Amino acid sequence: MSVTRFEPSGPLSGRLAPPPDKSISHRAALFAAMCDGPVTIHNYLESADTRSTLNAVLALGAAVEQDDDHRLVIRGRGLRNAQETMDGLLDVGNSGTLLRLLPGWIGGQPGGEWTLDGDESIRRRPVDRVAEPLRRMGAGIEAREGRLTPMTVRGAQLRGIDYHLPVASAQVKSCVLIAGLLAAGETTVRARAPSRDHTERILRRARVPVAHDGLATTVASVDELELDRIVVPGDPSSAAFFVAAAVLVPGSRVVLEGVGLNWTRTGFIRIAKRMGAPIVAELEPPGTVSDDEPVGDLEVFHGPLCGTVVEGDEVPLAIDELTLVGLLGAYAEGETVIRGAEELRHKESDRIAGVVSALRGLGADIEEALDGFVICGRGGLAGGRVDAQGDHRMAMLGALAGLVSAGGVDVEGMAAAAVSYPGFESDLASLIA
Ligand code: S3P
Repeated sequence: MSVTRFEPSGPLSGRLAPPPDKSISHRAALFAAMCDGPVTIHNYLESADTRSTLNAVLALGAAVEQDDDHRLVIRGRGLRNAQETMDGLLDVGNSGTLLRLLPGWIGGQPGGEWTLDGDESIRRRPVDRVAEPLRRMGAGIEAREGRLTPMTVRGAQLRGIDYHLPVASAQVKSCVLIAGLLAAGETTVRARAPSRDHTERILRRARVPVAHDGLATTVASVDELELDRIVVPGDPSSAAFFVAAAVLVPGSRVVLEGVGLNWTRTGFIRIAKRMGAPIVAELEPPGTVSDDEPVGDLEVFHGPLCGTVVEGDEVPLAIDELTLVGLLGAYAEGETVIRGAEELRHKESDRIAGVVSALRGLGADIEEALDGFVICGRGGLAGGRVDAQGDHRMAMLGALAGLVSAGGVDVEGMAAAAVSYPGFESDLASLIA
């Protein structure tokens, strides 16, 4: 495996537009494919993960073109007309979001049958969380050992359910809501905590009635989705790497442009600000219910940090950035505690074990817990080696650790970054004076 070295860096400065949002790009392609008319997607993410979604919608019968302005135009076959594939297979690659959202759609196609599979990492990720509600709605689902891919989905006429989410997962919530569009009666999803709500926002824009009652969301069967245009904002999860870098490297000032500021995605910004990070942004107020995806700039300066505790309802709102909170913790005064984040063990890699072994290997004082970790700031990291374990976010974390460390970091498997952010290394280099 190739090794990429990241040396300690001077201040970061300048302006950067992070890549388009991965979560919203997946949804844009899927919902466009469910429409009858053409849908133009502005700023679709070009990455390995979102290519898997385009391949899946192509296999299901949608046409995908690029227009002269590099916008994607997807012409779907409608909500109830997904096509069977020649070999019955759908390859989701490395994408957990595609793996969890797609069954909601194809599970509601009576008579259709598809088998979903993906790469080595996907084969370790649980699908029982979507298999269980879809079975209750009437779909036929078989999974390896009852909970892993390959997973076969046999579509059926679904019935609505009232479903309590066992995990605060936006993917499972989205899967059940999508199935609800095809199910007889009403479908309600009840969550214990808020999670990203891109599906709900896009559905409302597609003129689907989406009712909210606290943490319960209800949809009913619809004939069609009405979308003609989807604009994908910059990805706050990708921006978060530069936020962390600018906060940690003395003398830095960076402006991140066109970032999605949906409050269900900005938990990391709120946590970093609580730790003392000087970040200027007009964030969407927590609790906002909206059809839009708000977009704005983040201005980030270097500053000293103090430890914090992240737990409970805050966890799903910063789920993909919790490893970065760990990195900030290595430079903060006092202890930084992450708890209630057992879900991190089920991401592209076990991110609790991964961040603990990576940061400890670089000299941090960090202890693993079943549902998180505790890191005690000791003035930063010495340096060393990080194995990305095939996980894009772990690769980028390793790169940042190198930048802020005393002695630099060798990242094994940096290529994994291309899953969500193919231009990461050159964008990072552009901010280093
Ligand atoms: C995602 C939801 C989160 C997140 C993932 C993308 C989504 O997963 O970690 O990167 O697009 O809905 P869970 O819903 O499983 O927490």
